[in-house]
Amino acid sequence: MLIRVPDPADLPALRALERAAGEGFRALGMAPVADDEPPSPALLTEYQQAGRALAAYDTDRPGEPPRGYLLWDRVDGCAHIEQVSVHPERARRGIGRTLIDRAERASGLPALTLTTFADVPWNAPYYARLGFRRLAADTLTPGLRAIRAHEAELGLDRWPRVCMRREAGAHGRSRSVRHIMCR
Ligand SMILES: CC(C)(COP(=O)(O)OP(=O)(O)OC[C@H]1O[C@@H](n2cnc3c(N)ncnc32)[C@H](O)[C@@H]1OP(=O)(O)O)[C@@H](O)C(=O)NCCC(=O)NCCS
Repeated sequence: MLIRVPDPADLPALRALERAAGEGFRALGMAPVADDEPPSPALLTEYQQAGRALAAYDTDRPGEPPRGYLLWDRVDGCAHIEQVSVHPERARRGIGRTLIDRAERASGLPALTLTTFADVPWNAPYYARLGFRRLAADTLTPGLRAIRAHEAELGLDRWPRVCMRREAGAHGRSRSVRHIMCR
């Protein structure tokens, strides 16, 4: 698996990938999430040009479109994962975890943050397995509060959502070894 900034020609494939990855929400009674439009081509281009998009290419199948991708933003001094999706045909092989670890290193920032559904097995419980911890609502930085407010406006709070954070380098180590606050 090769992880790198996607080629511009592969951006449409990321939208198809996202639709396929979202289908799993339907079985949980979360059809509006499954039906949510993927990021627009213009937005994907912005992330790609800023180097804040990562795509997973299957090295055994050169020329095929990416099978996973991640978008991140800088929010209050941390790398905020805006989206991570893996095609269901390639799920549960470590692609999601590898994309997240690569975003941590590529950003060079002291922590990763994200918002996600609390009760969806491949959301908050998955991130907890990857070393993310839940943030109490009253500890959110201004940028994270704004993101949560926007999500509530979009109707996502119909299902419980949480903010989570992982210190850079903390996965697999004791958290007390390294704990750096974001500015
Ligand atoms: C979340 C996601 C990116 C994980 O990608 P992945 O490459 O399959 O994940 P990894 O291989 O790194 O980790 C696998 C673990 O994820 C969790 N997981 C993935 N798919 C799952 C599913 N359908 N049901 C339950 N747990 C699941 C499990 O903990 C699994 O570990 P296990 O196989 O030992 O049980 C992928 O499931 C996805 O694209 N989901 C839909 C989009 C989404 O919800 N994105 C996150 C938005 S915040």
